[in-house]
Amino acid sequence: MKVLSELQELRQERARLPEPFGLVPTMGFLHEGHMSLVRAAKDRCASVGVSIYVNPTQFGPNEDLEAYPRDLERDLAMLEAEGVDLVWTPTDAELYSPGAQTWVTVEELTQFLEGAQRPGHFRGVTTVVAKLFLAFQPQQAFFGQKDAQQARVIQRMVTDLLFPVEVVVCPIVREADGLALSSRNTYLTGPQRKAATALSRSLRAAVEAFKGGEREAEELRKVMAAVLDAEPLAQPQYVSAADPDTLEELHGAIDRALFSMAVYVGKTRLIDNAIVGESEG
Ligand code: PAJ
Repeated sequence: MKVLSELQELRQERARLPEPFGLVPTMGFLHEGHMSLVRAAKDRCASVGVSIYVNPTQFGPNEDLEAYPRDLERDLAMLEAEGVDLVWTPTDAELYSPGAQTWVTVEELTQFLEGAQRPGHFRGVTTVVAKLFLAFQPQQAFFGQKDAQQARVIQRMVTDLLFPVEVVVCPIVREADGLALSSRNTYLTGPQRKAATALSRSLRAAVEAFKGGEREAEELRKVMAAVLDAEPLAQPQYVSAADPDTLEELHGAIDRALFSMAVYVGKTRLIDNAIVGESEG
C-alpha cells in the first residue's frame, strides 16, 4: 500500500494502477462504515484508493474542525489489512492553493436538511470531492447512505459537471443497538451513548408506522419526534420526511420518503436516516 501526500506522486502512482479504479473519500478516524465502502470498492474495482483529509471548508465557524478525531496510524493499518492500493493524505496547501477562489456549488439540493442548518457545508464537500475526482480519476466512487443528502448532492454534481465517475451509494452500517457508526460517536459519554439510540429508534418507529399504513407526512414526523422527545438527553434540530429525489419536505399523503434528522446529544450533533417506499437505503 502506497501512502502519499504530494499530488504529483499521487498522480504517478495512480497511473500505474489497473482499471477500473475505485475511490473512497474519507475524513479518517475510520470505522466499519468506512470499511464497508472500501470492501464494496474492492469487490467492484481492480484497484482501490482512499483519501484521508479533514476538509476545513466543509466545517462552519462554530463546528468541530479542531476537535475532529484523528488517528492516522490506526487508519493506515486498517486500510492495509483490507488490501487498499493507494492512500492520499494531502495537506491543506496541496488541496487549496493560496488565494483559492474556485468553488463547486450544487444549488437546489443543498437548500434543504443539512444544507439549511450548515450554510456552506456542501460547497466545501462538493469542492473537495471534485478535486479528489480530478486527482484520482476514479471510474467509481463510493459514498455512504449515512450522509444521504451528501450522496444525492455528489450524484448531481457528477451528472452536471460530466465527471466520468459512477457514484456507488452503500447502506448504513449500524451498531448492534441501532446507532449508525460515525467518527463523531467517539465524543459521546456513557449516558449520551445510550441516549443516541433514540435516532435509530425514532426512524424505526416511523418505518413501522409507514408499513402499518400511515401515509400522512405530518403524522410520520410526529412519530419520530415523539420518540426523540421521550429521550431527555436528545435535542432534535430537525425531523424530516422529504422527497428522496428533490429533498423537499413532504406534506399530505406520501408513497415514498426519506426520513431524516439531526439531533444534539450534549454538544455532539448526530444525523441518521431511512428510506421508505423504495428498495434503496
Ligand atoms: P466521512 O464522514 O469520513 O465519511 C466518509 C464516507 O463514509 C461517507 O461517504 C460517509 O457517508 C460514509 N459513512 C460514514 N458513516 C457510515 C456508516 N455508518 N455506514 C455507511 N457509510 C458511512 O463524508 C465525509 O467524510 C466527507 O464529507 C467527504 C465525502 C470525505 C468529503 O470531505
